[in-house]
Amino acid sequence: MNLKKLLFSVVVAASLIVTGCAKKSEADSTVIKIGQFASLTGNIASFGQSSNNGTVMAIEEINAAGGVLGKQIELITEDDRSTAGEPANVVTKLIHRDQVVAVLGQVASSMSLEAAPICQTEGIPMITPASTNPEVTEKGDFIFRICFIDPFQGQVMAKFSKQNLGASKAAILTDVKQDYSVGLSNFFKQTFVELGGEIVAEQSFSSGDKDFKAQLTTIRAAEPDVIFVPAYYNEAALIALQARQLGIEQPLTGGDGWDSPLLFEIAGDAVEGCYFSNHYSQQDQSPAVQEFINKYQEKHDSVPDAMAALGYDSAYVLVDAIKRAGTTDPEALRDAIAATAGFKGVTGTITLDENRNASKPAVVLKIEGGKAVFNTTVEP
Ligand code: PHE
Repeated sequence: MNLKKLLFSVVVAASLIVTGCAKKSEADSTVIKIGQFASLTGNIASFGQSSNNGTVMAIEEINAAGGVLGKQIELITEDDRSTAGEPANVVTKLIHRDQVVAVLGQVASSMSLEAAPICQTEGIPMITPASTNPEVTEKGDFIFRICFIDPFQGQVMAKFSKQNLGASKAAILTDVKQDYSVGLSNFFKQTFVELGGEIVAEQSFSSGDKDFKAQLTTIRAAEPDVIFVPAYYNEAALIALQARQLGIEQPLTGGDGWDSPLLFEIAGDAVEGCYFSNHYSQQDQSPAVQEFINKYQEKHDSVPDAMAALGYDSAYVLVDAIKRAGTTDPEALRDAIAATAGFKGVTGTITLDENRNASKPAVVLKIEGGKAVFNTTVEP
């Protein structure tokens, strides 16, 4: 028994030494490991697949151009299956098992909110390409985002509804399971009321729900001029279909969570004439955007949505910071990311503020002919 224990300790000690060596050689390894977590499967798989496509494309371009600090980048991607609890798991794996120097992800705010405290505690920089809930970057000084935040996005859609659509009464339908949706509803409400508008109905649902008729019936009775639905594409599409079935003709409006080719596929005519805010427009004629769209289309046979563009930009911002830091030492890297200024991305110019957020314009898109058509740009 004692001998067994002794043998066991020897084996453990030996494996610790081996792991120790592996750690040490990591620093001199020929690759730089970057981790990514995304919802590649599950309820919001369209988000994860798009952001991953963009991120992979950027890393391939960077590697083809010689990599960074004389090394190639190895991107290690983990699927969180759109499942609560998984972001914490997979990010822990990326940090401990793979020893990544930084983490890219996620799109959905609730997922980023789960992973951020882990990256913060471990002292590994995390950049979310697309999570807009303000609390994400409040998790600490290792947590960054390259997109705008929801206090701004909510304001944009409230002003647009009031001023451009002439709405004085709004209804709100919130997904209580998503921090994104809860936050955006509140920010919309705040500005809409400040502008003299009235919220005539506030209804809610949970991600994964399929039947919204009860909530929509209440909303119909309140006779709003506009219905704000800060949901993700699956639920937004079903809500639009059921609203039209119930004879609701008012425009629905939403935020970036609507952006997926699946919204148009599922909802069809039901979202015609509706509006949502977003991070970029495919109709932006600037050479950087059009070049990105062409390259992406060659590879994927589809037009990149906002997540693809943000995923792409997030990888470039990180690599730019590694280059400026001249090292992958986590603290130096954190400081270099924080100093990101005037970075020209596909989704606009990225400058990180003292709260590690990017201040960028939003676009409002109108759904016409089954496509999101550029309507207006709103500066911060
Ligand atoms: N902003 C959304 C969130 O924070 C995610 C998202 C970004 C969805 C961009 C679509 C496009 O949850």
